[in-house]
This record gives sequence, structure tokens and C-alpha cells, in this order.
Amino acid sequence: MRLLVTADLHYDIRRSIASVEALAERVCRTDADALVLVGDTAGAAHQPLRDCLRLFADFPGQKFIVPGNHCLWCLPGEDSIRRYEKIIPSVAAEAGFSVLDHEPAIIGETGLAGSIGWYDYSYRDEVLGIPLEFYRAKVSPGAAARLAEYRGLVEKFRDQLTDRHLDIAVRWMDGAHMRMDMSDEEFLDYVVGRFDGQLETFEADGRIRQVVAFVHHLPFRQLVPTGRPAKFAFAAAYLGSDKIGDTIQAYRKVTHVFCGHSHWQGKCKIGNINVVNVGSTYTHKNLEVLDV
Ligand SMILES: [Fe+2]
Ligand SMILES: [Fe+2]
Repeated sequence: MRLLVTADLHYDIRRSIASVEALAERVCRTDADALVLVGDTAGAAHQPLRDCLRLFADFPGQKFIVPGNHCLWCLPGEDSIRRYEKIIPSVAAEAGFSVLDHEPAIIGETGLAGSIGWYDYSYRDEVLGIPLEFYRAKVSPGAAARLAEYRGLVEKFRDQLTDRHLDIAVRWMDGAHMRMDMSDEEFLDYVVGRFDGQLETFEADGRIRQVVAFVHHLPFRQLVPTGRPAKFAFAAAYLGSDKIGDTIQAYRKVTHVFCGHSHWQGKCKIGNINVVNVGSTYTHKNLEVLDV
């Protein structure tokens, strides 16, 4: 079986459009068995997601997505959990895609499991010394100092903040565009619990020889880029969680894991598992091919 995997198509962003269309043409000319888009296919507006998925209409194999954090950004009146549970699956189904988070798949003797994954700030760079409350608010101290709504937060930690902290001015935009009644830690537990159920079912199913997993966020901290400027170091908090990787490692049938999200290509082996970060950027989309 041949699987094609890509991620972070961001078809709602103008500078992504040409590279996505070129990639889709390439994909449609293949005779691979399945295609998986590993998150951040588009943002809040529904039409770019619909348009992006339709680019793959002529692909002859089965088609799957996992949502990314950008897919949970909300239009006015929407809720991110409803987007995750209902809206994204329904838009995907119109274009012949199913969402692995909700419907894991079996092709031949291979199980395909999937999850958006999430973050719990455990990948944050402790060297920065930024209090956890800034990570929860999704604003660095320098950004908080410039925004009226976060003045109280800056006041609260005034004694701990140095000029070095206040020079870091970055917001993690999930804070501005998502709405949900769960904390990030609760949402992580929720999605990882569901993913764990998929892997457990595959592990117990004698027909399945191996499992390939697809997770938007980074399941292992080894994939977090290091040595980057402080604004990227602040963003490391939002890249993923070891809870995802620990779940994967609990099951011996998982041979490959694909992720995206950091826009930073990387491959590593963790235990017996081959881990690939697809590493698409806004202007260049990567396609991974896996024969199993
Ligand atoms: Fe992305
Ligand atoms: Fe992402």
C-alpha cells in the first residue's frame, strides 16, 4: 500500500495557494492508495477548506484529514469544539474526505489512527523564565505590555520581568481566534484519550499488522526546533506534548508517525517508531510517500 502524506496546506493564506495547487495536481496524477492531510488545511472560513479539499477530487485513493489548530479558529458565533466535532467533518465529507480523529481507518493489514493532538506548554523553554500565566494567556511579556487587556498580567509579575522578557513580543494566535470551554490541558487529555482508544482497538485487532499514526501537533519533544530566536522559543510551548508520544509508545504496532504544525521538517527514530515532521512552510509544501 502506498500512502501520501502532507500537512499545513494553509489554503486560506495567499502565499500558500500556488504551492498547494501544484502539489494537488501532482497527487492527483498518482495511483497511491491513500492521502492524508495532517492539519492546518485552512483557517476559520469554510470556503477555503472546501476549495482545498476539492483540489484532490481526481485522486483515486482514499482521502483523510486530521484537523490542525488553525482549523479550529472560529467565525463569529462558532465554538472550536463544535468545529472539531461537527463542522470540519461535515465540510470534509462533502469532498470525500473523512476525519481520522473521528473515524480511524483500516486499509489491508494497516490501521490508520489520527488526532489533532494539542499542547500543554510542557515544551516551553524554561531558560526564558517566563511565568506560566503568560503561556496560558498566549501572549509573551513584551506583547502583553503593549496590549491594554493584558496590563494586569504584566503588573502582577512586574517584579519578575526583566528587559529581556519585555523584548519578547509575540502572541500565539489560537488565543485570539479560538473559543472553547476547556483549558488547553483538558482539550489535550480529551483528544489524546480518544486517540488512545483508537490505538488500543487496533492493538487488539488480530487482522491489523501495523499502525501508522497522524498527529498535527508534535508528539515528541525531540522534534521541537532548538537554537532559534526568543520569539520562536516562546512559541515552543504550543508545539505539542509528550503525552501524545507516550500514548503512541504504549502500543507496539505503531511503526510510523507523521506530524506537522511547526513548519520545520524533521525525521527521527524514537524506539522502533519512525517519526516524520512533514515540514511544509507557507510557500513550500512537502509530500511524503510511505510504502507499507
Ligand atoms: Fe501550520
Ligand atoms: Fe498548526
